[in-house]
Amino acid sequence: MKNLAMHKSVAVWLFISVAPVLSAADDALPQGEYLFHAAGCATCHTQEDNKGSPLAGGRALKTAFGIFYSSNITPDPDTGLGRWSEADFQRALREGISPEGKHYYPAFPYTSYTQLTDADLRALRKYLLSRQPVRQANRPHELPWYLRARPLLSFWKMLYFRPGVFQPLADKPPAWNRGAYLVKAVAHCGECHTPRHFFGGFKEAQYLAGNPHGVDDTKIPNITPDRKTGIGKWSASDIADYLETGMTPDGDFAGDLMADVIDNSTSVLIREDRRAIAAYLKSLPAVESLARSPKK
Ligand code: HEC
Ligand code: HEC
Repeated sequence: MKNLAMHKSVAVWLFISVAPVLSAADDALPQGEYLFHAAGCATCHTQEDNKGSPLAGGRALKTAFGIFYSSNITPDPDTGLGRWSEADFQRALREGISPEGKHYYPAFPYTSYTQLTDADLRALRKYLLSRQPVRQANRPHELPWYLRARPLLSFWKMLYFRPGVFQPLADKPPAWNRGAYLVKAVAHCGECHTPRHFFGGFKEAQYLAGNPHGVDDTKIPNITPDRKTGIGKWSASDIADYLETGMTPDGDFAGDLMADVIDNSTSVLIREDRRAIAAYLKSLPAVESLARSPKK
């Protein structure tokens, strides 16, 4: 497992504030780096298998709808984000709209990132702009003809996309809100763990209850506290340990997709953040699902 040395004071500060109000310019870089890892941007935007340049895109994402290729998000002015304004970046992540006004496919999980706070989006952009620019044109997606027209995505968004910043619940403790923010907005756990309708929208009532037809044709387990089909038998520390090391309470190790999430994202978090995620998951209603965990 990778282990990045975190800036301790920033990490503690991150933990305390769900929606940071202050964003002192000097703090923004470490905050951006932390978020960048937690949000797993590199997992999709680097073509690791082919030793692709970091963040230059081109990684294939095989979905039920076709093959999507991630974009170049390095600061290159011609093929990356070099000429994007702050507002362009904000609109892409919050509304799923490009600087030219085109809709993005939800293979780019702006459906979750929409909940990131303004301060976090600023910090993320600042971190991305500090990376090595790479000149590499984006590869066109391989989609059936009827999905190629981006204007159609506006209908999809009308049905399934709820843009807007995460709203902490006043009657919940800060750690719960921090966990909810990490799960929903940052680490976008639901993008894989929530089953989808025929047209790819989330089945909200089955939130985190597993997806039998996940990305790369995998079965994705139920992570609600249901005892039969979910992780109801896992304690909060079982969950936090798994997110750090990839080991389940039975001594198995996480398979490919989740191993990437753990390596690139959850193992890099500070311990309090993993605990907050675990506590949030334990607090969810147990939902029984037909998508059983592959190991049970
Ligand atoms: C699950 C995979 C995945 C993750 C995780 C992901 N992206 Fe992407 N991203 C994509 C795909 C696929 C596209 C292309 C979408 C399209 O063409 O409609 C994209 C497009 C983008 C674009 C638009 C680029 C352009 O040239 O128009 C930006 C900006 C972006 N992503 C930033 C990010 C950031 C920042 C993160 C982390 C917070 C992130 N992405 C995480 C898959 C991902
Ligand atoms: C890219 C897709 C993806 C994302 C994002 C993702 N997961 Fe997973 N997750 C999986 C897959 C696939 C498995 C099954 C792993 C295996 O077969 O060992 C899994 C397994 C798990 C398990 C073990 C369940 C069991 O019964 O063994 C837990 C707990 C879990 N994920 C929590 C999370 C949390 C919390 C997040 C967000 C921080 C998250 N996952 C984000 C794909 C994902």
